[in-house]
Amino acid sequence: MTELMNGFKTLHWVGGVDGHLRLIDQTRLPAEFLEIDCRDVATVWEAIKVLRVRGAPAIGLAAAYGVCLGLQTVLGADQADFFGRLKEVADYLAGSRPTAVNLFWALDRMTRKAESLRGRPPAEIAAALLAEAHAVYEEDRQMCRAIGRHGAALLQDGQGVLTHCNAGGLVTSGYGTALAAVYTAAESGKKLHVYADETRPLLQGARLTAWELQRRGIDVTVICDNMAAQVMREGRVQAVVVGADRIAANGDTANKIGTYGVALLASAHRIPFYVAAPSSTFDCSLADGTAIPIEQRNPNEVTDGLAGRVAPEGVAVYNPAFDVTPASLITAIVCERGVIRPVSREAVAAVLAG
Ligand code: MRU
Repeated sequence: MTELMNGFKTLHWVGGVDGHLRLIDQTRLPAEFLEIDCRDVATVWEAIKVLRVRGAPAIGLAAAYGVCLGLQTVLGADQADFFGRLKEVADYLAGSRPTAVNLFWALDRMTRKAESLRGRPPAEIAAALLAEAHAVYEEDRQMCRAIGRHGAALLQDGQGVLTHCNAGGLVTSGYGTALAAVYTAAESGKKLHVYADETRPLLQGARLTAWELQRRGIDVTVICDNMAAQVMREGRVQAVVVGADRIAANGDTANKIGTYGVALLASAHRIPFYVAAPSSTFDCSLADGTAIPIEQRNPNEVTDGLAGRVAPEGVAVYNPAFDVTPASLITAIVCERGVIRPVSREAVAAVLAG
């Protein structure tokens, strides 16, 4: 079953084992709604790399289907060649982006599924892998709904809600994580007003969050990133809700660059700061956030971005794509399995085990 709630499908598989992956090219939004067909693994890798498909859960979904595409050339091969190709494809996709752990989670899951069928004909394993990718997709759909239910309970009618980057339908099968809380609250009759940080340098907030909120009829106001403090001081925001790319065992959370600053501002203004993310975004192999790999992206995203040249030629640029918000600044983490509050190593472990 696919998610049509927003009137769009972020990504979906078309056809059977010999089919292909269709996804919205998010680099073109909001100017143009364009879907592209990925018929080989290199096209999926490029789509993840340049953010045509983006956001932790959607990257995981794209990677799962990318594995299926990568194996289409070895359906008639012997076991050794099939499993050799599987490793090659998984390693290749793992090199697309480093921070969102859902990518590695999905690749691990696909590899484990294939390993469990070792000895079966490759075409049969490939069919089982496509079914596994569909299962990940269906679980993502249900996960979004559960996060929406848990998250909506934290939001009150009439509140202003600030969000950073885009953690909506466009980062999942269709309903989102942080924005799922807003959508579910709105469906239950709560009236919310969302402040969307524009999210420099690639403007996921202005381009994507504003686009999908508008489509769903949610009140949304775009602000420049450097306006958040003033907007909070003016009393316009009663809650902050953001997504996550990787959460360490103690709750430290990597998300889009700028999230840490928003968390500090929320703390200073005594505004609750919520993170919404599925269990597949937790990386409990990391004790805390210091070891989370932070993607460094091309300096031209800062100098040229999507808005034309804004800095002189040759100037030095630092462009980390993510930052880590310490658990101490997070009021609660909303996961499909429940709400982690207060955020501690013990509470993370308890909710993930539940
Ligand atoms: O670089 P992006 O656009 O992939 O970054 C996305 C984010 O930081 C999202 O907030 C995060 O992946 C959470 S999405 C549920």
